Amino acid sequence: MKIPQTLIQHPNFKHFFTVNHPLVLHKLSILRDKDTDQQAFRDLVKEITTLLVYEVTRHLTVETISVETPLKVMKSPRLSGKTPVILPILRAGLGMVDGFLSLMPTAKVGHIGLYRNEKTLKPVFYYFKIPKDNAQRCYYVCDPMLATGGSAVEAINRLKQEGIRDITFVCLVAAPEGVECLCRAHPDLPIYAAALDEGLNADSYIVPGLGDAGDRLFGTS
Ligand code: PRP
Ligand code: URA
Repeated sequence: MKIPQTLIQHPNFKHFFTVNHPLVLHKLSILRDKDTDQQAFRDLVKEITTLLVYEVTRHLTVETISVETPLKVMKSPRLSGKTPVILPILRAGLGMVDGFLSLMPTAKVGHIGLYRNEKTLKPVFYYFKIPKDNAQRCYYVCDPMLATGGSAVEAINRLKQEGIRDITFVCLVAAPEGVECLCRAHPDLPIYAAALDEGLNADSYIVPGLGDAGDRLFGTS
């Protein structure tokens, strides 16, 4: 049996990975459908995020502890190091938090508020709250959409200004323009996506994409 490889490294961007798992591909197709309603959209964002998190957390380190099973005492691995932080980019990133927490229930959750000015396309910063003790703490910045890359670059800039270096970016749909922008600004940043789409339209929306992720998650615009 040929074992399929689910994590695909992009040939031009060595830190950019897409997750090529049949469940991810299937759920993403339903997510993209304009007739998928708000409740299903929310559930799917959570489910796809959970599947991505399984791949994204491969680098976490473990230590050996002693565990007493009903039959004997054994040496067994458990996660080591400081509790990680999930940092959703408001608003749409909030939709991914429960997917992270379903596999990492003890993670801390920070928040960064950024929205894209629809005329200039530049990110507008409005909120930032993260834990205080960040030495050796890893951060997962999440946002369903990586379009021009402006919002993601700004979020990572803010973390680096705080001295945080162990950062991973996780999105659902990426545009090549956004990946290039983020890789140029932060060349060592690992970036994970469920899909890399064709590109941006004249309004800098991802094509084919899934529309406005925040609006579809929350029913507001
Ligand atoms: C969307 C999306 C990203 C950003 C991506 O948020 O959730 O944060 O746009 O675009 P970029 O890569 O070109 O910066 P939006 O600014 O619409 O804010 P919202 O989540 O509050 O709707
Ligand atoms: N923000 C979204 O929600 N969707 C896009 O396609 C681009 C930015």
